[in-house]
This record gives sequence, C-alpha cells and structure tokens, in this order.
Amino acid sequence: MRYDYGDREFQVLCDIANQQVVDLDPVSPANQLPFLRNFPPFKGQFERFRKNNRTISDILQKHIDTHLEKHDPENANDYIDVYLNEVKASEARGEDYFNLDQLRIVIFSLFGAGSETTSTTLRWALLFLVKHPDVYKKVQAEIDDVIGRGRLPSMSDKAKMTYTEATIFEIQRLGNIVPLSIPHVCTEAFELNGYNIPAETRVLGNLTAIMMDPAYFPDPERFNPVGAYA
Ligand code: HEM
Repeated sequence: MRYDYGDREFQVLCDIANQQVVDLDPVSPANQLPFLRNFPPFKGQFERFRKNNRTISDILQKHIDTHLEKHDPENANDYIDVYLNEVKASEARGEDYFNLDQLRIVIFSLFGAGSETTSTTLRWALLFLVKHPDVYKKVQAEIDDVIGRGRLPSMSDKAKMTYTEATIFEIQRLGNIVPLSIPHVCTEAFELNGYNIPAETRVLGNLTAIMMDPAYFPDPERFNPVGAYA
C-alpha cells in the first residue's frame, strides 16, 4: 500500500511522527528516571506519547486487518502481504517468530524511524544547498553527467557520483539530526576504555562528538563536502 501526499491519514501519521521525536527527547530526565513520568511536566508528555502510540497502532492494525481479509498468498503486493506469507510459513513450522503483533511493531518501527528522519534530512539538504550554490552546481553537474535527464538514478550510478555522495554525507554530518543516537540498554556487563558498564545500563552514543571531531574533520563547523573527507 502507498499513501498519496495529500491523504488525511498520512498527514496525521506524519504529524504524530514529528511530535514523537519531540516527546522522545533522549536527554529528558524522565528517560533516565522513569518515575518522573508521574509528575508534571513529564506526565503530560508521556501521556501524549502513549496516546499517539495507540493512534498509530490502531491505524496500522486497521491496515493489517484489511490485508488479512483480502490476502492472496500467490499475489503479494506489498510488505504486509509478504510478511503475512511468512506468518503462515512460520506457523506451519510450529514457530511464532513471524506473528501479527511483530508485523504491527515492525511497520511501526519502519515508519517511525524512517519518515521524520528522511524528511528532516531532506530539509537540511535544501538549506545547505541554498546556502552553498557552488556545491549545488557541482552536484547538479555530476547528476547531469552520470544520469542525465531521461531516466531515474540506479544503485550502479553511485560509484561514479563521489561528489554527490560526499555532499550527502556532509549534509548528514552537519545536519546531525540524531545527535545522541537512540538509547540502548546493555544486555550484559562489559568494560570499555577502562570503564565498567554494568548490565541493564542505558547508554547513549554521542554522535555529535564524532561528527564534530577536528581529528577527522579539520574545520568541523564548515559545510565542505570534499574538504571534510579529504
Ligand atoms: C537520513 C535518515 C535516517 C537517519 C539519520 C537515521 C538514523 C538512525 C540512527 C542514529 C539510528 C540508531 C543506530 C544505533 O544507535 O544503533 C537508527 C536506527 C534505526 N533506523 Fe534509522 N535513520 C534514517 C533513516 C531510516 C529509514 C529510512 C529507516 C527505515 C525505513 C530507518 C530504520 C531504522 C531502524 C529500524 C533502526 C533501529 C535499528 C536497530 O534496532 O538496531 N532509518 N537510525
């Protein structure tokens, strides 16, 4: 299935995805001290987050139910159809690794992780290219040279488009839209650089420290597709 850009449900999902990013603030004290979720202002934020999760979940469940009603294993048209085939195959093997709850959660993850990140990165791309017309012209020249105007790009073009690729990397480096990555929890205790990290510790990866490290990017504040990776 695919949404039109003007689809009302798609707009609701996008609005929620944007709000979830705000509410998921990884440095919020409520993310480290969960009991704070019972007190303002974190309570309201947490309740909105849960309500939005339910709304997305209900929408996804509705689509899964519709797919189930019309499911034809021989004619899988989209991800949900293919997954439903796997659920059946998994059941036939006596396993439940692929199941309907997982399906909802996987689509939730793909949509939640893939929509706001991509649209925000594209907005950064526009901003950087407007501010740096010299870069914009070089990228356009490379696109015209390698792909031309008569066809869509393909993965085999990538190796010939090093300037465009460096520009995309630079947009992602300076756009830095997930500065602390996504919180993880250690499944077991380990030692890193002399620090003992106990099991169950929440860890955040400081991506900003890497993206802005002058040891790797000599002038880290400057948008410079080639210089940054020279
Ligand atoms: C420019 C766009 C994107 C950015 C900046 C981005 C960034 C990230 C970051 C920083 C992580 C955490 C990695 C970690 O700490 O292990 C992550 C994980 C993830 N991303 Fe993206 N992402 C983008 C696009 C997408 C898209 C398009 C999808 C799917 C359609 C996606 C799906 C996921 C998933 C499923 C995870 C979790 C992986 C895991 O559990 O190990 N992301 N992403």
